[in-house]
Amino acid sequence: MVPLSRLFFVAAIFLLAAGGYAKDRCKAKRPNIILILTDDQDLHLGSLDYMPSVQRELISEGTSFSNHFTTVSQGCPSRASLLRGQHAHNTNLTHVQAPGGNYAKWKASGQDEDYLPFWLNKAGYHTECKPPPNHLEPWAYDYNTPVFSKNGLAPVLYSGYHQTDVIRAKVYAAAFLHARTLAGRELIMRNSLSRLNYLTQKEQDRPFFLTIAPAAPHVELSGFPKPQERHKDSFLEAEAPKPVNFNPLDYFARQKPSWLKRLQQLKDSAIDLLEVHFHLRIQALLGVDEIVHDVVKLLEGKYVMHNTYIVYTSDNGYHLGQHRVPAGKSLPYLKDTNLPFIVRGPGVPTGKKSRLPGTHLDLAPTFLDIACVDPQSFPVYLDGRSLLDNWHNPKRTANGSESASRDIINVEFWGSSVFEIIGHSGRSNNSYKTIRIVGEETAWLYSKWCTGDTELYETYFDPFELENLAPKAAPGSLQGQMMNRLDALLMVTKSCSQDTCRDPWTVLRSSCVLDSSCPHDRIFSSIGTAMDPRFDEFFAKLPKVQMPECLEYQDVRNEGPYLPPVSSSLGSDHRKPTDNYKSPTQPGKPVLGNIVDQGAWHQRHTPIHEMDENARKLTKEELGIITS
Ligand SMILES: *[C@@H]1O[C@H](CO)[C@@H](O)[C@H](O)[C@H]1NC(C)=O
Ligand SMILES: *[C@@H]1O[C@H](CO)[C@@H](O)[C@H](O)[C@H]1NC(C)=O
Ligand SMILES: *[C@@H]1O[C@H](CO)[C@@H](O)[C@H](O)[C@H]1NC(C)=O
Repeated sequence: MVPLSRLFFVAAIFLLAAGGYAKDRCKAKRPNIILILTDDQDLHLGSLDYMPSVQRELISEGTSFSNHFTTVSQGCPSRASLLRGQHAHNTNLTHVQAPGGNYAKWKASGQDEDYLPFWLNKAGYHTECKPPPNHLEPWAYDYNTPVFSKNGLAPVLYSGYHQTDVIRAKVYAAAFLHARTLAGRELIMRNSLSRLNYLTQKEQDRPFFLTIAPAAPHVELSGFPKPQERHKDSFLEAEAPKPVNFNPLDYFARQKPSWLKRLQQLKDSAIDLLEVHFHLRIQALLGVDEIVHDVVKLLEGKYVMHNTYIVYTSDNGYHLGQHRVPAGKSLPYLKDTNLPFIVRGPGVPTGKKSRLPGTHLDLAPTFLDIACVDPQSFPVYLDGRSLLDNWHNPKRTANGSESASRDIINVEFWGSSVFEIIGHSGRSNNSYKTIRIVGEETAWLYSKWCTGDTELYETYFDPFELENLAPKAAPGSLQGQMMNRLDALLMVTKSCSQDTCRDPWTVLRSSCVLDSSCPHDRIFSSIGTAMDPRFDEFFAKLPKVQMPECLEYQDVRNEGPYLPPVSSSLGSDHRKPTDNYKSPTQPGKPVLGNIVDQGAWHQRHTPIHEMDENARKLTKEELGIITS
């Protein structure tokens, strides 16, 4: 195994040497990048419709991509995958709790010092990426106990404010500081504002990378999400969408896998709770909408908006009653995995909608591409690819083999699923591996669960994923043949890395070459070409995806067989082993949050320096640090 320190060193050298990457756009000043990453926001429950600034400043001024997916539908694993550019099966951050994954595992694996902001920083971007010394999890989902750590410093409690307002104020200060101005007069004016740090001209010439990650509209640990006081009367007339897969009839519910098939229809009282939840979600998002407004106006005022990419998305999607499951994420279905994804920035057409697919794995290579880092110098272990060409040409008809492999979306999960709000109760046996095809002429969702259940939906005709074709598909039937192809792809993608993720067909073609039953006068590079009946025998014979045990974490022995057949390293060459890592178990002394809900109208524009006046550092006792 290569020691992590050496990998890091090698990556640093490459990134420093990247200046020679010759592209016309790289001769000019490189663009700033802002990533807005909400928590648990849906694409399919209409939440974007209730965000006027997102509509006006991002959707109208940029391009919306309707086929963007997370590859794992849960916060911590999804964020780890985005920041490392790797599938969860390669980061091994597979759940929000030990042993699957948590902050302690992220740190123990050394991945916390080798991820996207560090790479952009090495490429000359201004970033603040020092991780907090303590895990701030207990307060992350408590809107009225806003605790923040600035660039690795001791955590601070902002009494008297709503969490989303503190984020707004901090983001504004950071963007104000790093957005390059036209220099000259404004620079002098700014210098005279004594509270604000002064940046040297050299610093001003550095582009910046800023991630804005509000907790909204995530639930609080004790219940519903909590909007700012000023938004509590908004949208009272709105109704939660109830598409055809909302609380469906037994006929459909019984076709589902694992614990889902035993669910009872939701009662009226449960539906009433979903309705309340829906309102609080769209109200909580209004605080995020204000952040979008403020940031865009600030950048426009500084004449840098034209050279800034803003990417708006979420860590995972959300369901409210679809397939009879009350509130939550963690399922492979469209509501949980297909995300809001809007890009505004240089060269991105305005007001366009695009169906070109992408995943969160693609963001790291895309941002490195924007930063003009030579692709030869990207960290070797990235599983995605740059989407920048798609952003610039969202209507382009991608050429055959390229687009056929981009249409393949691998989504995986280990561990349990949580019913949020209703008792926060969990359902185990929620480990599954899925593959989704999002082609223009063919679209499927195929899944294998640890319980042995199999699902096949022809999503081209059944976008609500109701009619499970798997149990009905006879081996020789068209659907049976399709399942063999999808299983073969999943066999590759479930443990893929790097190129085998970007084009799993190459692995299957190599197997075909070695197989006498495979016709060698033709090849396949898409579902369409692979469906040629002459490949039936080859695909039928391949070993099938299975997970003998329902484990709460990824175990190499429970994941096989593998294709390529050598036992996969599952990313372990690029991170430190985490066996027996320790998670903090000793909670600190409770921190007293706001007694009254905060975020009234008079706090709409409160700046951070005013908030700082009431802020205080958390004590060692509150942080649970035992001192001897
Ligand atoms: C992933 O994490 C689990 C739990 O910590 C551990 O048992 C397993 O060995 C790890 N797998 C790999 C491939 O690193
Ligand atoms: C089509 O895609 C392949 C694979 O990425 C690429 O090598 C080739 O240059 C592309 N052809 C065109 C015409 O864009
Ligand atoms: C999990 O699945 C296994 C295998 O199908 C089954 O025996 C077990 O009862 C399930 N457990 C739960 C909690 O559903």
